[in-house]
Amino acid sequence: MSPAPSTTAGGSSGSEEAMSPRGPHAAVLLMFLMLTLMSSRPTADGRETQYAKFQRQHIDELSHPPFSDAYCNTRMKKQKMTTPKCKDFNTFIHSDLATVKAVCTRTGTKRPNNRYYSNDSFSVTDCKFIRKDPRQGCMYKATTLSRRICITCEQVQGAGLAPVHYGSYK
Ligand SMILES: *[C@@H]1O[C@H](CO)[C@@H](O)[C@H](O)[C@H]1NC(C)=O
Repeated sequence: MSPAPSTTAGGSSGSEEAMSPRGPHAAVLLMFLMLTLMSSRPTADGRETQYAKFQRQHIDELSHPPFSDAYCNTRMKKQKMTTPKCKDFNTFIHSDLATVKAVCTRTGTKRPNNRYYSNDSFSVTDCKFIRKDPRQGCMYKATTLSRRICITCEQVQGAGLAPVHYGSYK
């Protein structure tokens, strides 16, 4: 876009015009600024992004074995997957986010529909819902194993290609 013809001679007054609050560019700039702010804010409307949700539900770097049923019961609750109802099935990956994210960008094999299979195995714990106990709440059966993971990766604002869904390796 070229600046509107100026009355003055010489014509490098572009930046001056852009800074003017009354110039025709001001509205465009303002709109651009608003759009930028909105899109770079992951929780502008208070909702969790898919990327944040993936981390909450599937990344557990810090817990230590044993990954028992009690681990699942505690962890599922702590990561907010037991309200309003007990989530039926969930997998925790015992690895840091960067290593999992690298499956999207470097260490995985791409398949259709933005699915990426890790070439390497990860230590994971599957938590399978068994029943709801009146006192203890959601109760799970834990299975810990080492296996390749399958994740869906998408372009995430500010993070590049990043995991947004987890799916078990088939
Ligand atoms: C992952 O595995 C695929 C299929 O065997 C292979 O083509 C690719 O080079 C591997 N990637 C890495 C980083 O080892």
